[in-house]
Amino acid sequence: MLVPPRDLWVGPQDPLVHFFRWAWEYRAYLGLLCNLRATSSVLEIGCNHGRTMLGLVGLLDPPGCYEGFDILAPQIEFAQREIQSRHPHLRFSIVDVFNGTYNPGGRVSAETLRFPYDSSSFDVAYAASVFTHLVPAAAANYLRETRRVLRPGGRCLFSFFLLDRYRGRGTSSCELYEFEHLIEGGVATHDAERPEAVIAYSRARLEKLAADAGLRVERVLPGYWTASDDAVTNEQDLVVFVADDSASAA
Ligand SMILES: C[S@@+](CC[C@H](N)C(=O)[O-])C[C@H]1O[C@@H](n2cnc3c(N)ncnc32)[C@H](O)[C@@H]1O
Repeated sequence: MLVPPRDLWVGPQDPLVHFFRWAWEYRAYLGLLCNLRATSSVLEIGCNHGRTMLGLVGLLDPPGCYEGFDILAPQIEFAQREIQSRHPHLRFSIVDVFNGTYNPGGRVSAETLRFPYDSSSFDVAYAASVFTHLVPAAAANYLRETRRVLRPGGRCLFSFFLLDRYRGRGTSSCELYEFEHLIEGGVATHDAERPEAVIAYSRARLEKLAADAGLRVERVLPGYWTASDDAVTNEQDLVVFVADDSASAA
């Protein structure tokens, strides 16, 4: 019942094993890298129908809780109906934010969205393959909002394509991950006309955006989207941030 019909999947043709690996990968990452505990309060940005959070269902125990939001109404309605109704400490919200690829009719700008949560209300935040669809002004706002809702010392884990690791045409694991269009300093995209389809940031640009938001990059785990011999586990590059006083909030 926690697995939706395929037309709601992120990749409707994906093998089932691909669907489930995300849940267990993210459970491991959040425990190992972000101090996730059964009593943690967790935010997921861009949760879709709750794919990566399935590994948290048997783990989080009240007062431990989870909040996920996304811009896709049918996926969030599925999660509310099938997951939230059975586990009231795991909640899902729709935000009607514009994204040219995912929600072209959205009425709210990602550059100005205020996350629908109180300040300092989460221990851990994460986003799987979401900042890879946010243009710089939107990414800057989402980092600021993450910092606002995280408790001091809280950690977040966001996946990116780090531009420094792009080795040039033919070296990425698929055509979509060719970042040949530089749109501004330290930011490149696959499709200049639809930059949010998939976007890459240099580490320096990302560290600046994070510092301006009051987040410090603590660790980077390289992904296998690009040819390299230092890849760790996930397809994308995983970046762990800490909300602490050594990063200066703008
Ligand atoms: C590649 S999918 C990943 C979904 C989910 N994180 C997962 O791994 O199962 C990208 C997700 O980001 C969401 N998204 C795109 N722009 C967003 C925004 N501005 N705010 C929140 N979610 C957004 C999309 O609706 C979509 O669910």
